[in-house]
Amino acid sequence: MCGIIGYIGDRNACEVIVKGLKRLEYRGYDSAGIVTENRGSLFVKKGAGRIDELTGKLGFLEMPGKRGIGHTRWATHGVPNDTNAHPQTDCTGRIALVHNGIIENFAELKDELLKKGHSFKSDTDTEVIAHLIEEELKSGGSFEEAMRKALLRLKGSFALGIIYTGEPDRLYFVRNESPLVLGIGDGENFAASDVPAFLEYTNKAIFLDDREYAVLTKDSYVVKNLDTGEVVEKPVHEIEWTLEMAEKAGFPHFMLKEIYEQPRAIRDALHGNAGTMRSVAEEVSKYDRIFIVAMGTSYHAGLVAKYLFQRLTGKVPIVEDASEFRYEFENLIDENTLVIAITQSGETADTLAAMKLAKRRGAKVLAIVNVVGSMATRIADLTVYTHAGPEIGVAATKTYTTQLAVLTMLAIETARVLGTAEERYLESLEEGLQRVPELIEDVLRHDESLRELAEGLKDKKDFFYIGRGISVPTALEGALKLKEISYIHAEGLSAGELKHGPLALLEEGVPVVAIAPRGRTFDKMVSNIEESKARGAYIISLGDSEDLRRVSDVLVEMPRMDELLTPIVYVVPLQLLAYHLAVLRGNDPDKPRNLAKSVTVE
Ligand code: G6P
Repeated sequence: MCGIIGYIGDRNACEVIVKGLKRLEYRGYDSAGIVTENRGSLFVKKGAGRIDELTGKLGFLEMPGKRGIGHTRWATHGVPNDTNAHPQTDCTGRIALVHNGIIENFAELKDELLKKGHSFKSDTDTEVIAHLIEEELKSGGSFEEAMRKALLRLKGSFALGIIYTGEPDRLYFVRNESPLVLGIGDGENFAASDVPAFLEYTNKAIFLDDREYAVLTKDSYVVKNLDTGEVVEKPVHEIEWTLEMAEKAGFPHFMLKEIYEQPRAIRDALHGNAGTMRSVAEEVSKYDRIFIVAMGTSYHAGLVAKYLFQRLTGKVPIVEDASEFRYEFENLIDENTLVIAITQSGETADTLAAMKLAKRRGAKVLAIVNVVGSMATRIADLTVYTHAGPEIGVAATKTYTTQLAVLTMLAIETARVLGTAEERYLESLEEGLQRVPELIEDVLRHDESLRELAEGLKDKKDFFYIGRGISVPTALEGALKLKEISYIHAEGLSAGELKHGPLALLEEGVPVVAIAPRGRTFDKMVSNIEESKARGAYIISLGDSEDLRRVSDVLVEMPRMDELLTPIVYVVPLQLLAYHLAVLRGNDPDKPRNLAKSVTVE
């Protein structure tokens, strides 16, 4: 996820762009850059770091010109450094562009362009686009046609802002699976990843749809279909949000926004790893001793991975809290060991220490990380990115479900390499995984009823979350979300454990949240729910079977899916429930007391 802002009009473009970038910083903040045009020349300034720092260091506000484009980056390909920062340019320096998204087929396009003599400066997937347009321009025709031809060859997601010196009066903006919105002013026009970037100047907005592009001049705009080149009529919306609301896309908190971003984030995670998961799986399949190390929510993702791996590959990873692993397992690690570290930030002290220990003992280290270029990626031999975009809320939501998405992909692909599951089954699981974003969209419709449910539960003192099999980690994660942000005591446990102690705590009205998808232990789960109900517990079930209605006070109806995919989808109502309880109790869910987004001390 990155932020884009473009301006064309009579103001100094750099001033509008710097302000816009500041407002988009929540979308990415590892590097930034600006291109402006003046008297037929492009001026490019960019570097790694925060916008404020770069504005002073590079002199963003001294750039000449009345049209330009800015970018704040959240790296997906290539570590955050000065050369990988956007804009990226072609060989001639006449085309500059910025990009938000992931080009899946960039490696093959880059090979082709290298053979044709193009020279590349960065490691980004983005630079390929500039060279591809340059190449198309060589066969004559207009810039717009060349751009369109080049873009038709891209696979993946992209929002782009493009400037070309050969056309002094215009800017191009393209959208495919990454957001882009036009701001329509009077004698000036804007484009951005998100409305707050230009809301100070205009509240008239046109939301581009996938596979559309816009040609902006200072006095006009036209939107066209990328595939056909035909003009598309677009409605102009009047935005009524305040700036602060707009930054959160109208959501009252980042956490809620991030919960709603999950379908998009998972799509990116699946796209972003489609071409590379096979080679990671080949590596994983070589090892019999596999440890998974992580903390907090990432640890729960590791627990889900244990079930995925044992069911699909027959390998049983040992999942350890990284703070324990580093002191307890040293003698079990050698060059025949694979250690998979899961960490969204890539900076959690205990996880990094566990990784370093594994490296010292000669183990292979695979990291599953959200933040490109973070410390974990530098320690690891191999990194898989989750592509969730920056997560601002302290409680992990979209970074968790994207971790689960890539771990599911990895388990499927490893099973394929090892031949431990039927290909037909693996294919159906893969298809199911591709549909997960839609299923989550479905589940998000429960938001209002979960808020109403939370109204009735907000004064409760204790919650229990129960599940069986692959739903046990979901129970743990549901309880963790609730503790973190609502400050209500909660326990997550396997339903079988209830009878061994916790049942003594159940009395009239104590909420028990049962994660009960259909699957191999469904009937057992129903019996456990009945046991709780007999003690007066208030049962909230999540499931896809009518049988649950009889034993539940509330049934959150879930769509039907393969049991192995349920962790990704079933956690969503639990995130929403925790969120609403936190808000109803007057807490700020984005900044829970005593907690930090990234724990960099032991
Ligand atoms: C903190 C955060 C959690 C997160 C954990 C691990 O406790 O509040 O949300 O799950 O760290 O973070 P990591 O960045 O390693 O995934």
